[in-house]
Amino acid sequence: MSHANLSAEAVRILETASAEKKAKLGRTVATQWRESPWHSVGHAIPPQRPARPDSPVLRPPRDVPRRKIGPGSEGRAALLHALAHIELNAVDLAWDIIARFTDQELPHTFYDDWVRIADEEAKHFLLLAARLEELGSYYGALPAHDGLWQASEATSGDLLARLAIVPMVLEARGLDVTPEMIRKLKAAEDEASAAILETIYEEEIGHVAVGRKWFEWLCERQRLQPVDTWQALVNRYFRGPLKPPFNNEGREMAGFPACYYEPLVSPA
Ligand SMILES: [Fe+2]
Ligand SMILES: [Fe+2]
Repeated sequence: MSHANLSAEAVRILETASAEKKAKLGRTVATQWRESPWHSVGHAIPPQRPARPDSPVLRPPRDVPRRKIGPGSEGRAALLHALAHIELNAVDLAWDIIARFTDQELPHTFYDDWVRIADEEAKHFLLLAARLEELGSYYGALPAHDGLWQASEATSGDLLARLAIVPMVLEARGLDVTPEMIRKLKAAEDEASAAILETIYEEEIGHVAVGRKWFEWLCERQRLQPVDTWQALVNRYFRGPLKPPFNNEGREMAGFPACYYEPLVSPA
């Protein structure tokens, strides 16, 4: 990274189509950033959509096969495939937030946090992709859906909205559903897959915490009340009410209190 800056590197990662190369390049850049913290962030223009491999084909969510865990490895492979796809999106989302908002005069620690998240997302993707191969499958073997990137495109022009939706709605939702997946994988005696999800779960608590921290930091800078602002942004940018049950304990560990999200549950 000696001649480049962080946002240019982020764009290079976003424009890498191969999933494995994208993840590995991200990890390399993250190491360089950690070891050489004097590099500048600079300015760059991220692509509207990140480059992606030819497979998996992207389909509307309802056309993606269900991921039920049964006696064979097929259901588990479908689950891990769906999760790998989410993690690859998360890799792109982390580099996108780094490259997209460089006009906002954000502290260096903002970039430290998101580079660490990008690195962890790449690790999550690579762990899941390797596990898929152990199960006789691979990332790209099944169709996947495009909902995650669509959610982020809506917030391309607004960092506060991006933080409100991506870490504080979507990644927080991951905290709600992951413990049950771990339980099912253990019930199917797939300890290796369960261990990967446990790693992901613990690190995702940190991602929600970072999202919440910078959301509140920006609210303070703009003299906004964080809870009201978050609820207004979720109502505007997120389609549909939030889905209980929530993992209040996991969310609490991320410093994300129920007073944010409980009022947005649809009346039964
Ligand atoms: Fe992740
Ligand atoms: Fe994450």
